[in-house]
Formats: sequence, structure tokens, C-alpha cells
Amino acid sequence: MKVGVIGGTGRVGARLIAHLRAEGHQGVALVRSAGVDVTTGEGLREGLAGCEVCVNVSTPPAFDGSALDFQERAMAHMLDAGRAAGTGHFVVLSIVGCEEVPQVPYYAAKAWQERALADSGVPWSVLRATQFHEFVPEVMDWTTERGVVRLPSTPLQPVAVADVVNLLVEVVLGPPTRARANLAGPESFALDDLARHVLARHPDGRAVVTDEEAGLFAAVPGRELTAPRDATIGPTTFDAWLRDSWPA
Ligand SMILES: NC(=O)c1ccc[n+]([C@@H]2O[C@H](COP(=O)([O-])OP(=O)(O)OC[C@H]3O[C@@H](n4cnc5c(N)ncnc54)[C@H](OP(=O)(O)O)[C@@H]3O)[C@@H](O)[C@H]2O)c1
Repeated sequence: MKVGVIGGTGRVGARLIAHLRAEGHQGVALVRSAGVDVTTGEGLREGLAGCEVCVNVSTPPAFDGSALDFQERAMAHMLDAGRAAGTGHFVVLSIVGCEEVPQVPYYAAKAWQERALADSGVPWSVLRATQFHEFVPEVMDWTTERGVVRLPSTPLQPVAVADVVNLLVEVVLGPPTRARANLAGPESFALDDLARHVLARHPDGRAVVTDEEAGLFAAVPGRELTAPRDATIGPTTFDAWLRDSWPA
């Protein structure tokens, strides 16, 4: 099977393509560094030629209000190019609970992306994952100032990218489900404690201070981003990932 992967050089995309290849399929990275821009449509029709499946695992440049414009343009071009290429299955990787936190602009944009795909009339599947283990160090850097990481105690249930890709491959190679499936990691933590786990294992001189006002996740009031009852649970614990995969 030939699969076009918008975002195919990212954390998820690169592993997805490697996994597809290992199973005898062809994964094509549709990214700006290969001359494809999903927000303008440049190179997308050519890139999707012959692809039975189109997967979108791209990320916008910023997590602010501009993310909606990115998703609107990306969805229009993906559907247009995929229809022209005769693509029979469109897959989006989204985020658990995104529709429950519209006050977070990036998550509101992901909820819009899901709805737009579901309403488009094309055969589709959505896999939603919780925050990646690999994303936690990035979140820590966002709110680091003068050696102090300020983070709220927002509950998260992170999952390893390897576990995301294992399930995403099944979704990509399976029939369109016209449904959203949820995936989470095995344990939930307060975000500030996740940062403490990182620095306990890999001290770099920074300290963590709990600050319920700090960063993007301060706007999440409760357990909206943790596993819903129907979620598949990925096996890799945060500490096992910290031990085995650092630096990512
Ligand atoms: N981070 C999390 O914790 C998390 C949790 C759940 C779901 N997700 C979702 O998982 C997906 C993958 O995330 P990730 O962390 O693997 O992303 P990532 O590592 O940031 O990779 C982003 C990819 O998007 C490509 N890209 C960016 N702008 C593009 C454009 N205009 N046209 C074409 N390609 C473009 C990049 O390549 P170029 O720069 O070369 O274009 C890169 O391959 C995202 O959709 C995200 O919403 C993330």
C-alpha cells in the first residue's frame, strides 16, 4: 500500500514511515523540506499520486490562534488534492479531549480539524492520542526562566510516540472507521510532577515550581486531557521512556 504522510519527517511521521516500510508498504513524506506545503497545496497533488491513504501528522508553527488558520488551509488542500488523486482513506492524528478545552486555541483548532474531516464526505478515521512523553521536555522549555520551570498541576496521561505509531499503523492499514479512537498512556500525573520526574532522572540545574497560571496547560481546569473510558492504553510508562529514550 502507498501512504502519503503529511508531516512525514516529524516525531510521529518519521516513525510511521519506517514502520510502514518494515511491513512492506510505501510511506511518502509530504513535507516542506520535500517541496510540499499543506497550507498552500504546493506539491500535494503530485505527492499524493497513487496513494491509497493520506495521513496528516503535521503541526503548525505556533500553538496560538494562528493554528486554526493552519488547519483550515491544510484541510482544504488535503481534501482537494486527495480527491483529485483518488485517495480512498484520510487519517488525522488528533488529541484526546481537544473539544473539551476550546479555551486552548491549539486544541480548538484540532477539534475543528476533526469535525471538518468528519463532515467532508470522504472516507476517514481519527486517532486521538494524549500528550506524548516526548512532548514534556518541550513544554518545560516553554516556561523556563532563569533556571526555574513554572508549570501547573494539570492532570495529563502521557503516551509514548512508539505506542502511538503502533496503533496509528493499524488505523492506516485498516478500513476507514468514520470514528474517533482514543489512546492514552498507562498512568496519569500532574504536569508539574512530570517535570520533576524528568529533572530527577536528568538533572540540568533547573528547579520546578508549581504555578497554576503558567503556560498553555494552565487553561485546562480538570481531567479533560486524560483517558476517556473507551481509550486504548499504551504500555510504555513515563519512567520507562525516560530511562530508555533520553535524549529523544
Ligand atoms: N505533541 C503531542 O503531545 C501530541 C499529542 C497528540 C497528538 N498530536 C498530534 O500529532 C501530530 C504529529 O505531531 P509531531 O509531534 O510528530 O509533530 P512534529 O514533530 O512537530 O512534526 C511536524 C511535521 O509537520 C511538517 N510540517 C509542518 N508544517 C508543514 C506544512 N506547511 N506542510 C507540510 N508539512 C508541514 C514538518 O515538516 P517540515 O517542517 O519539513 O514541513 C514535520 O514533518 C500532530 O498533528 C499533533 O497535533 C501531538
